[in-house]
Order: sequence, then structure tokens, then C-alpha cells
Amino acid sequence: MPESAIVAEGLTKRYGSLTAVDHVTMNIPEGRVFGLLGPNGAGKTTIIKLLTGLTDLTEGEATVAGFDVRRQPMQVKMRIGWVAAEVILDDDFTAWENLWLQAKLQRLPEWKPRAEALLDYFDLGARRRDKVKTFSTGMRKKLEIALALLHRPAVIFMDEPTIGLDPNTRRMLWQLITGVNREYGVTVLLTTHYIEEADALCDDISIIDQGRFVASGTPSELKGRVKAEFIEIETSAPVEDARLAALPGVSEVRSVGRSRSLRVTSAEEVLPRLLAAIPADQIRRINVEKPTLESVFMDVTGHRIEEDAGGAHDFRKFYMNVRRARQ
Ligand SMILES: Nc1ncnc2c1ncn2[C@@H]1O[C@H](COP(=O)(O)OP(=O)(O)OP(=O)(O)O)[C@@H](O)[C@H]1O
Ligand SMILES: [Mg+2]
Repeated sequence: MPESAIVAEGLTKRYGSLTAVDHVTMNIPEGRVFGLLGPNGAGKTTIIKLLTGLTDLTEGEATVAGFDVRRQPMQVKMRIGWVAAEVILDDDFTAWENLWLQAKLQRLPEWKPRAEALLDYFDLGARRRDKVKTFSTGMRKKLEIALALLHRPAVIFMDEPTIGLDPNTRRMLWQLITGVNREYGVTVLLTTHYIEEADALCDDISIIDQGRFVASGTPSELKGRVKAEFIEIETSAPVEDARLAALPGVSEVRSVGRSRSLRVTSAEEVLPRLLAAIPADQIRRINVEKPTLESVFMDVTGHRIEEDAGGAHDFRKFYMNVRRARQ
């Protein structure tokens, strides 16, 4: 049995009357990639802050890498790495100087062989003497992860590691995170509001909304819980939602851009009815979708991750980019 990398029991954080994290319980075995998936303001960053000792718990307890975050914060800090959403690199320093600075900040005595190995691992060896301001976004991300790994942490925390990245860089980063997890055996806890990212990257996911875990499991376990499929249809002439909603087997009709998305129990049963209801020459596109983590989120919360303020823009932008990249 693997040891637990992170254990939390009744983890709670209140800011005045607002409960940002509300009795969260988790047990993450060593060596996993664990994702916290949720909309803006759900409490993701606060959970990371609680587990890394950046903010005090209001209630509950947690251990990270075997140490109590409240009673042994220094022990915890020595065993964790942190990749923030914000830029942490010094642009006027070279890659090597950034590693040197990190080693100084953490008072690491023997850091050079490790730094060299990390630069090689991330394919940055040839650029080690170049200033970071000459680096691409992908190279910066690699260096940030190298910094986080320099002191051989058991657990690394990544808060929205791919936010705002273009699809290619994002995919590159997914591979990198998986690679680092396997190669260095480091447990990864990451946060994201990208459904596709959580699905592609994480061994286990907890879906979080308003400070609470609303569902947890592997991506396929979570998706297996939703007994719904979606038919997306785009027509050349407008079709009234009410007509679609009246078809037997359709439980909900939503607009998704120029198309309608029908929530159905079985696409196989509803498709013939749909095709009978709409003249064939008016159908531009028809598409059947199996449950996604978005459907899981909707099922348990009644709203969509992307509907929440702030995140919506990023989410749509991401999907538009992915669509473009696929075309
Ligand atoms: N220092 C603080 N003081 C008061 N309220 C805070 C503080 N930090 C966070 N909050 C509130 O706690 C809630 C959770 O915030 P948190 O940053 O953890 O969300 P998040 O899931 O990381 O969101 P995002 O996706 O936008 O990063 C929000 O309502 C936020 O406004
Ligand atoms: Mg956050």
C-alpha cells in the first residue's frame, strides 16, 4: 500500500462570514496526480494555501508528506514544491542564475548536480546561460517546474499551471507534468477550471464548488455516474427549443453557440425521432457526446463551471483555441 502524500480531515477556512473552504476531506496516495476542478472562487487556491502553510486553518487538520501542516510547518515546507499561476522567474537572470537564487532562498548546499540534471531533463541545458526574458512561454514553464523540483520535494502544488497558455503549450505542459510525476515519483496536486485538462492529466479528481467537494473519483468513475448523453445539432433554419424539448427522451435543451444541445438518456433512441422532426436538408451538423466532467459538475451543482463569472472568458477562449487547433 502506498503511503498517503496528503491527508486532510474537515479542512475549513473562513474569512469573516465567508467560508472559502468548507470541511474538505481528502486522502491522496503518494505518486498520484490529483486535480481540484472547480469554477472561479470555488476555494482551490485556498486549499493549496492551507496545505502549504501560507494561511492558517480555521478548523480541521492536514498532513502533507507525513507532517502536520499546523504543528510542523517547516518540515512540510522542506518537502513541498510550488508552481504558482503567476510568474516567479526573474527575467534579467539566466536560467542558471534563477536556479542559483532558488538554491540560496532554500539554503540548499548541494544543488548544482541536481540543477544540471533538471536542466537536461527539461531540454534547457543549451539555454542555461541565456536570460529568461529570451525564453518562450513553454521554456519558462519548464524552468518554473525545475525550480520547484530543485530541493527534491515529495509533493508539488500547481495552482492553475496552464491558465492562459495556448493549446500547444498546454498540451506540452500536460506531458511534462505526467513525465515529472513518473520520473521523479513526485505527487502532484494541481488546480484547474479546465475540464479537458482535469480529464487528460489527473489520476483522481475532486470537483469543488463553493468550498465543498461535490464529487470525487477517477475521471472515468466520475463520468460513469452521469446517466446522460448529449446530442448537439446545428440547423440552417431556426428550430424552436420547445419542439426539441417535446421529443420523447429529451430532458433539456440548451443553446451552445449556433447549435442546440439536447440532454437525453439514450442518443440511440432519440436520434431517429430527431431526424424525423427536422427536414434532412436543414441539418448542418449532428454530433453525439458522451458525458464529460462538465456534465458531472452540472449534475451535482445544477450549474456549469463555465457560467461562473470570470472563468467564463478563459474557458471559452480555451475551447475556441482547441477547436481552432483541431480544424
Ligand atoms: N484573503 C482573503 N480574504 C477574504 N476572502 C478571500 C481571501 N482569499 C480568498 N477569499 C475568498 O475565498 C473564496 C475562495 O477563493 P479562492 O481563491 O480559493 O478560489 P479559487 O477556486 O482559487 O478561484 P480562482 O479560480 O478564481 O482562482 C472566494 O470567494 C474568495 O473571494
Ligand atoms: Mg485560484
